[in-house]
Amino acid sequence: MRTIETLGDLRSKRVLVRSDFNVPLKDGKITDDGRIRAALPTLTRLVEAGAKVVVMAHLGRPKGKVDPAFSLAPVAKRLGELIDAPVTLAKDVVGESAKATVEALKDGEIALLENVRYDARETSKVDEERGELAAAYAELGDAFVSDGFGVVHRKQASVYDIAKLLPSASGLLVLKEIESLRKATDNPERPYGVVLGGSKVSDKLGVIANLLKKADRLFIGGGMAFTFLAAQGHSVGKSLLEEEQIDTVKGYIAEAAERGVELILPIDVVVAPEFAADAPASVVTVDQIPADQMGLDIGPESRKLFAEKISSAKTVAWNGPMGVFEFPAFAEGTKAVAKALSEGDMFSVIGGGDSAAAVRLLGFDESTFSHISTGGGASLELLEGKVLPGIAVLED
Ligand code: 3PG
Repeated sequence: MRTIETLGDLRSKRVLVRSDFNVPLKDGKITDDGRIRAALPTLTRLVEAGAKVVVMAHLGRPKGKVDPAFSLAPVAKRLGELIDAPVTLAKDVVGESAKATVEALKDGEIALLENVRYDARETSKVDEERGELAAAYAELGDAFVSDGFGVVHRKQASVYDIAKLLPSASGLLVLKEIESLRKATDNPERPYGVVLGGSKVSDKLGVIANLLKKADRLFIGGGMAFTFLAAQGHSVGKSLLEEEQIDTVKGYIAEAAERGVELILPIDVVVAPEFAADAPASVVTVDQIPADQMGLDIGPESRKLFAEKISSAKTVAWNGPMGVFEFPAFAEGTKAVAKALSEGDMFSVIGGGDSAAAVRLLGFDESTFSHISTGGGASLELLEGKVLPGIAVLED
C-alpha cells in the first residue's frame, strides 16, 4: 500500500485526511475516545511535516441531512484537547464554510469538516453522485491520506472515490491495522482461535462460514450463542433467538465436526427474568434455562472453559462481547475472555467497536493485547476474507 512518504514534501500542502471519529456519545459527551486517540500518530506526522491538515469524518448515520445531534463539535473539542491546539470545525461539508476554513489554515494547523454524512452523496450507491462530492472534496486538498480504518469497508465518497482523484496514501493507523489483522488471518500461528460474541448470528454468518475453513477453535458467546444452543436442541427461554437461522447454524455445527474445528459453546449461562442492570441473576446449565428467563452472560464453568482454550492458543481474534457487559452483573464473561487474552502468551487481536470499548470500560491495560482494532464492520470483513474497497484503492 502507498505510504505517506510517497506523497513527497507536504510543507504548505493541503492534505485531506479521512479519519473514523464515529465515537459513542451519551448526552452529547464522548464516552470512549479510542478512535480519536488512534488517529493522532498520522495527524501529528502531517502537522510536523508542515501540512495544512483537513480532516473528513462521519458520526452516526444522519441519512444525508443536517442534524445537530450528529455534529462533530464534541469531536473537534476532544481532538483539540488531545493535540493541544485548536481545531476549527467547518459549519458544512464542502460549502462556503468549508472553503473559508481551509483557506484560513496555516502550515501545521488542523481543521475538521462537518459530518460528511450530512451530504447524501457521501453514501450514495450511484457512482456519479459520489464522484461529484469527491470532486468537491478534491478542491479542498492537494493530497489524500486514508486513515479511517473503521470505514474502509465502505465504498463512500470520502473513503473510496476521493482516493482516485488526488495523490493518495494510507495513514499510519490503516497500515498498522492491516498488518495486525493480516497476521491473524492470513497465516496465523496455530492453534488459531476466534471468539465471536454480540447479539446476532445474522451479522456474523459470512465470518463464521469463512472461519470454519481457517480456525482451529471457534468460540461462540453473547446473544448469538442461544441460536447455537437452540440448534443443539436446548430450550432457551426468553433469550435472544434467531429462529430463521437455526438451520444455517445446524449446518455450521455439522461442518465444524467434519472439518475438525473445535466449536466451543457455553455450558452454563447467567439468566435473569428481564433485561435490566438490577434484574436478579442466577446461573443455570444450558439444558436448564427456565422458560421465563433470558440468558445475559456466559456462566462460570463456561468462563473457565473459554479461558483455558484461549490460553492454550497461539493466535486469537476476538469480536463481540460475551454478555451484557454494560451491566456489572453480566460482565464477567466478557471480563474472563479479556483477561485470558491479556495474560496469555499469544498474538491477540481485538476487533469490533463493542469488544474494544469493553476492554477499556472494564479497565484492562490496552498494551497487554497485541492489537486492539478501531474497526467494527471493517475488521469483521477482513476476518471474513473480503476485499475492502477503501484498501484496494490504495494498493498499487
Ligand atoms: C463503525 O462504527 O463501525 C464505522 O464508523 C462505520 O460506521 P457505519 O457502519 O455507519 O458505516
